[in-house]
Amino acid sequence: MTKKWMKGIAAGSILLSATLQGAVDFTKDVMPILEERCLKCHGHIKESGKVVDKGNLDITKPESIKEFLKAGHPGDSSFYNLVVSDDEDEYMPPKGDRLTDKQKKVIHDWIKQGASFDGYTKKEKGESLLQKLAKETPVPNAAAVAHFEQMGALVLPLAMKSPLLQINFKPLGSESNPEMTKRLVELKENLVWLNLSRAKINDASLSPVGELKKLTRLHLDNTAVTDAGLSSVASLSSLEYLNLYNTAVTDAGIAKLSSLKNLKKLFLWQSKVSAAGVEKLQKALPGAYIHFQTATMPKPTKQEDKNAPVKKK
Ligand code: HEC
Repeated sequence: MTKKWMKGIAAGSILLSATLQGAVDFTKDVMPILEERCLKCHGHIKESGKVVDKGNLDITKPESIKEFLKAGHPGDSSFYNLVVSDDEDEYMPPKGDRLTDKQKKVIHDWIKQGASFDGYTKKEKGESLLQKLAKETPVPNAAAVAHFEQMGALVLPLAMKSPLLQINFKPLGSESNPEMTKRLVELKENLVWLNLSRAKINDASLSPVGELKKLTRLHLDNTAVTDAGLSSVASLSSLEYLNLYNTAVTDAGIAKLSSLKNLKKLFLWQSKVSAAGVEKLQKALPGAYIHFQTATMPKPTKQEDKNAPVKKK
């Protein structure tokens, strides 16, 4: 019943909060709490293929959050009342730990100060690392692209009109040489995939490669690369795929790779690493799939054996 006049006050307090010193910021202070404790039920996000959607609240949309609060009045806001409620039939989040007092206070103060979404930019859901990278990428240096094309390498955009590039040195074959990586640094803003598989490169050739901070995919299989060269690779923090198949790298070398937190696939088959070395790295990179075949690898079961003859019906 008191709602009508409250609306006027709420509007006023939005203006006020913008000038408050030490104001609670939605993006910096509130959103991290919501992402951690509310998103999985109130994000309208896809989880294992189906949309999880508990009620009407979608915390990724300011318009939706606004429906559950009264700016300036935490006590009149279900968005706040539900997180401080003592009623276990209604409090939020319904499972797991309650919010900490500090987190409750952040939400309280943010609403009290006018529940402003100023400066909030919605995180694009499902945006891949590559899409993010593409946004900040200038057009490639044409002279450098021409240099590699003349050399005989395959230079391709990652997708149509994308400023992101892949370079494949495979067509060079025996024409390749340790020096050919030198000018790659001129494309460091653009290069995301680099294929040096079977190229005649050495550890020194990798020092320019170490400057390609956007690389997500790197093929070094069947090359003369050793542990020393992996020092350059260890700084490539965007790397998701690394192929070291049939190289002389050892446990000491792959230990350097534990800094590559984005790594999803690592191929070490027919290198000089040991099972113990792989296990150690796996602990540092629990999310990575490390391909390291040993003699004791289990044989494929009947169902998995795709080469098994298919019986005719
Ligand atoms: C484990 C899942 C889960 C989590 C986590 C969770 N909620 Fe909820 N929430 C629910 C369910 C279920 C409802 C009831 C929806 C309904 O009745 O339609 C609900 C309802 C709400 C409502 C009322 C929305 C409506 O549609 O009526 C608000 C506000 C709310 N939650 C806030 C929060 C906040 C804030 C957090 C994080 C601090 C949170 N919830 C975390 C499951 C969750």
